[in-house]
Amino acid sequence: MPAEIKPIRTAVFPVAGMGTRFLPATKAIPKEMLPIIDRPLIQYAVDEAREAGIEQLVFVTGRGKTAIVEHFDHAFELEATMKSRAKTLELLEPTRIRPGNLVAVRQQVPLGLGHAIWCARAIVGNEPFAIFLPDELMIGTPGCMRQMVDAYAHVGGNLISVLEVPREEVSSYGVIRPGARREIDGMTLTEVTGLVEKPNVAEAPSNLIVSGRYILQPEVMHILERQETGAGGEIQLTDAMAQMIGSQPFHAVAFAGKRYDCGSKVGFVEATLALALARPEMAAEVRAIMQRLL
Ligand code: G1P
Repeated sequence: MPAEIKPIRTAVFPVAGMGTRFLPATKAIPKEMLPIIDRPLIQYAVDEAREAGIEQLVFVTGRGKTAIVEHFDHAFELEATMKSRAKTLELLEPTRIRPGNLVAVRQQVPLGLGHAIWCARAIVGNEPFAIFLPDELMIGTPGCMRQMVDAYAHVGGNLISVLEVPREEVSSYGVIRPGARREIDGMTLTEVTGLVEKPNVAEAPSNLIVSGRYILQPEVMHILERQETGAGGEIQLTDAMAQMIGSQPFHAVAFAGKRYDCGSKVGFVEATLALALARPEMAAEVRAIMQRLL
């Protein structure tokens, strides 16, 4: 990696959302704690960050979200009980975080994704950082952020993962205007020449959407500091990123893997079924059940 490209050490997880689409399930527990089989959604995003070599985790939380932080805490009573019953502690392994590597900051008011990210500015400091939207469950080998970090080592600057969606769906997402393409190490990188949050279908610059994984330079925090509002009256991360195009490298990576939209109920069910079918210990039984149901 060229010396001027600084490594990505910090991941920001905006998790302050109220999860209204999953009510009443999310009345008393955070949406990010809903399990896909035996792991809460947030665990998949944290695993992906660690696979990419990112160890410092910043959760941007809000009221009623303490369960997320608890999940990654040391559970003394639980571990003592499991030990005395000679039960394996392996199952807790994914929840172990090196002391000092987990920080929670509060987003006191829901003013948008850009605002949530800006709430992490003191922890991010003057270093490039990653962002994970845990609703977007990305399954691949290597994982999405691992692929992005590998691409970043070549081009530096800002990187986002993108996906192609049917044109009529673009108005739910951030959309890129694609520029020149280049191949690096078997990956296709597309230059991002424009970004629009939730455009009308007719005005969308492409059908390539921003899919919830970002590597950004710290300058984005200075832009977010201005608290300018965009689509839906919210402070949009997409708008802040758009202002960096031209002054810093900006690329999109098409993720080679599968994405599940766990922000929607159907996407959540799809992820549960797909991941169950990928588990050797339950695949055969689950397949038989699905065949029976159909
Ligand atoms: C956010 C981003 C959007 C992105 C999407 C991916 O939108 O603002 O650019 O495409 O996540 O899930 P939201 O889903 O919060 O409306």
